[in-house]
Amino acid sequence: MVDNMTGEQAEHGIADAREADMKSLTKGLVPSDYVIIGGTGDLALRKILPALFWRYLDGQITADYRIAAASRHEISQTEYADKLRPFCGDAFISGRASEDAWNAFLSIITMIKLDVASGDGSAALAEFVGERSDAERPVIFYLAIAPSLFGAATGMLKSSGLVTAQARLVVEKPLGHDGASSRAINAELAEIFDESQIYRIDHYLGKETVQNLMALRFANVIFETQWNNNHIDHVQITVAETVGVGDRAGYYNSYGAIRDMVQNHLLQLVCLVAMEPPSFFDADQVRDEKLRVLRAVRPVDAADIICGQYQEYAGELGQDSDTETYVAMKLAIDNWRWAGVPFFVRTGKKLSHRASEIVITFKQRPHDIFRRNGNDAIDSQPNRLIIRLQPSEGLRLQLISKQPGPGGMRLFPSELNLSFDDTFNERLPDAYERLLMDTARGNQTLFMRRDEVLAAWDIIDPVIDQLAGRRPELYRSGTMGPADNLLTRDGHHWIDPYDD
Ligand code: BG6
Repeated sequence: MVDNMTGEQAEHGIADAREADMKSLTKGLVPSDYVIIGGTGDLALRKILPALFWRYLDGQITADYRIAAASRHEISQTEYADKLRPFCGDAFISGRASEDAWNAFLSIITMIKLDVASGDGSAALAEFVGERSDAERPVIFYLAIAPSLFGAATGMLKSSGLVTAQARLVVEKPLGHDGASSRAINAELAEIFDESQIYRIDHYLGKETVQNLMALRFANVIFETQWNNNHIDHVQITVAETVGVGDRAGYYNSYGAIRDMVQNHLLQLVCLVAMEPPSFFDADQVRDEKLRVLRAVRPVDAADIICGQYQEYAGELGQDSDTETYVAMKLAIDNWRWAGVPFFVRTGKKLSHRASEIVITFKQRPHDIFRRNGNDAIDSQPNRLIIRLQPSEGLRLQLISKQPGPGGMRLFPSELNLSFDDTFNERLPDAYERLLMDTARGNQTLFMRRDEVLAAWDIIDPVIDQLAGRRPELYRSGTMGPADNLLTRDGHHWIDPYDD
């Protein structure tokens, strides 16, 4: 049916997809209660509540939903609204939000004073949930608090009779500082909640292009047939940030880039690139396949780990530190599909670009029929698929083409460029919006299962051990981190993110 599709038909296809999208917005959803424990904290104000507001504006969250912002601090509804408003600014600037919509959204929010450590306020919380409790209504408890309080919080929920069949628990990284502490935290959660009720957020999985990676691989045949060591030379994954650690230095200094980014976001991206196709798109099938990848990652050699720290870091922190703000690693995946294909991953703060990209470099053509035409210069230009996760989401396929016009068979590198911004021409929702609605839907596909988190720690624990006592190399802010020979010794080079 899609044979000979014209541009107009393709446009209709996109329009149809949009219409279907509108219909599917509320599919699988029933009005739910969100209880944000740590409701006045940074995560709640910056991410969770603005995401819920956008979903409200799009009609996905309706007036029948309720949100409780539970906090140790006594804070009025008006004070809360004032605190939250700056974080919802883009909705107003873009013209999507009106004062009426804002007030209507505020009217579904209830403030609850709650101290999880002492249990003070748990009766008010139980009363709030009890008012609308019925067997169909999901109650989502989002622990936007330090993991050290998770045990107290889940214990309080249990003793207040709130851990019912429709209760769901959302937690965020860092789920532990290493494998042992992560096991302890997860065991604590498992004492009270069943795994099917626990939603561990890795917000990278909620990003549109990250999900699109699965569509690209498993809804098309052209890439999947090439997606192996017969055709792929190596893979690069870059998550580069221009920001420094800012006011999170306290947290960051005891975590560093390996725990903060690689253990979760980067390894999850590796999984999505490397996983086998699941039989169907179901939470456990997808997570089983990701788990297999994690378990196939070979222990990383010390020589394959590069650490850096931006020059101003110690000054910002006010003390000397060995914490890495940049890390690059070469990973090997020991399975039939990926044997011999290195995965190079890197992430860092205060780099020259804010960009996350996956670059798939294909192998060179086996024989060059154009060599005698004097086209040696393009010999070293392999095909590359560049998946841009953020910003300016899109896909670029680098090809070799003939230069148009007379002058013989002159070849040059060209690009097929699919920009999601240009094609869909609409706002892409923030990762939290998607993930929060999935918690209400009861869909765990984009959440990490306990065994995945632990398998990721099994990779990272030995990496951290190997780094003990190693000073990270200092790098200048605004560069792409310390120079390294991770790739050059294999005859490759880092592909830096392109500028928008
Ligand atoms: C968080 C890390 O998980 O991800 C931060 O703790 C990092 O240090 C952030 O800045 C990056 O997320 P994003 O969505 O801005 O790429």
